[in-house]
Amino acid sequence: MAYETIMVEVEDEVALIRLNRPEALNALNSTLLTELGEALTEADRNDKIRCIVLTGSEKAFAAGADIKEMAEKSYVDVYTEDLFGASIEPMMRLRKPIIAAVSGYALGGGCELAMMCDFIICAENAKFGQPEINLGVVAGIGGTQRLTRFVGKAKAMDMNLTGRFMDAAEAERSGLVSRVVPTPKLIPEALSAARKIAEKSTVATRTVKESVNRAYETTLREGLLFERRAFHALFATEDQKEGMAAFLEKREAQFRDR
Ligand code: CAA
Repeated sequence: MAYETIMVEVEDEVALIRLNRPEALNALNSTLLTELGEALTEADRNDKIRCIVLTGSEKAFAAGADIKEMAEKSYVDVYTEDLFGASIEPMMRLRKPIIAAVSGYALGGGCELAMMCDFIICAENAKFGQPEINLGVVAGIGGTQRLTRFVGKAKAMDMNLTGRFMDAAEAERSGLVSRVVPTPKLIPEALSAARKIAEKSTVATRTVKESVNRAYETTLREGLLFERRAFHALFATEDQKEGMAAFLEKREAQFRDR
């Protein structure tokens, strides 16, 4: 499908979705959010895609929600259209693993979009921030909630109250990103991680997603019970038999998502 504000390439069972509004540092306007939602829904439906990488340009993953589009809206406008609530639904529904590959600015909605992915790999030039405070508002799609869970209260308060940016080293130290790589290596590294995930049983990778996400939604006791039951349930799959047999026979497992 041809899009105006994103580009999608599929290779080796991995979809690479690139935000593409260079004139606005990939600011998230309504067209981009609609197109991204369509691309994610299609990728989740397409059997030939087993993992997704979401990226931007070298200068910006995304510099936030589109300020030009929002500036004149009233409370009634944004409340009535539930601004950003509906547009992030496809990301919330996504069952396939998705990696954010962040280079340059990931600010406001850009940082929040990266945090909605399963994990973030970033380039050495990455800058994360929740600068909405400078616009007289606050983060609207997770900047006070997900960020606090990822980096803790002190840094989340600091970032949201001062609007300062966090560089790649601090982001890795704080647990916001899983890896930092030299800027030119970002896409190869993210694609390689995605291909590794694509080799696994999708029944197991989806279960990992559900189980790790459950850790943010419930108590430790409930989460541990959920995890144990999920572990038990995977013994009903052919992929568990194949994975364990392959280990014992000292060969590569051939998973069939059964
Ligand atoms: N919305 C709309 N346009 C944006 C934008 C945004 N969030 N961020 C950058 N742009 C546009 C600029 O207006 C500029 O366009 P023009 O050339 O037409 O003027 C172009 O992108 C390039 O930007 P700059 O000239 O500002 O580039 P820079 O290198 O000097 O600065 C920057 C880069 C520090 C990222 C700066 O652009 C900036 O501060 N952007 C805004 C960041 C921000 O406040 N994000 C939060 C948005 S609110 C939000 O996201 C709410 C939410 O939680 C959902």
